Amino acid sequence: MSAEFIVFEGIDGSGKSTQCRMLYEFIANTGKKVKLLAEPTGGPWGTELRSMLKSSTPPPVMTQIELFIKDRMDDYEQNIKPCMERGITVVMDRYFYSNAAYQGVSGITPAEIIAMNLQKGFPLPSRVYFIDVKAETAMERIIKRNGSGKTELFEKREFLESVRNNFLSLADERFLVINGEPKEKTVFESVKNDYIKLVKSSN
Ligand code: TYD
Repeated sequence: MSAEFIVFEGIDGSGKSTQCRMLYEFIANTGKKVKLLAEPTGGPWGTELRSMLKSSTPPPVMTQIELFIKDRMDDYEQNIKPCMERGITVVMDRYFYSNAAYQGVSGITPAEIIAMNLQKGFPLPSRVYFIDVKAETAMERIIKRNGSGKTELFEKREFLESVRNNFLSLADERFLVINGEPKEKTVFESVKNDYIKLVKSSN
């Protein structure tokens, strides 16, 4: 049985974490070995990043990139690599495309940030599901979830609009852009259909 390396990306409020869990459960139910991972992680760098996301005075963008890469290095060594070596399918909630799209808003280009990540030896995924919603939709969902006035550092409409455009600019043959505006089940149908095709083509 083939093992895949699947990544979900999307702006905050896109619903990608829900889709990630749905695909994880779908794969687990087929009896295949699968691991659900998320970045930022719950490790030391991830914890530092989460407090950064709550602060109103973020460090310079280069420092942000370095922190996310340190967190990703731990994730790679401790989780991603061991899974790949054991033939376990990985489903990831965010990967280095988030690094490129979010930190790529402030001067350093998304392509440069991708290059920095590839230089570290992080593997390319078999598929990236980009759950695409308009920044307005995302903000409405975030405010519904958190209450107004409780948004994190990156949860601003104009900023998310730029992040979305950055993600779309990265879309190559690995990416599948999926409309994230309809209800969860409808969005998941597109994810599932593609995943089934992907597995068939790699067997
Ligand atoms: P998110 O997936 O929203 O985590 P949670 O659902 O647990 O809050 O990720 C948190 C934030 O981190 C999100 O705003 C995107 C940002 N981020 C980056 O800016 N760069 C990165 O490399 C990664 C992995 C995340």
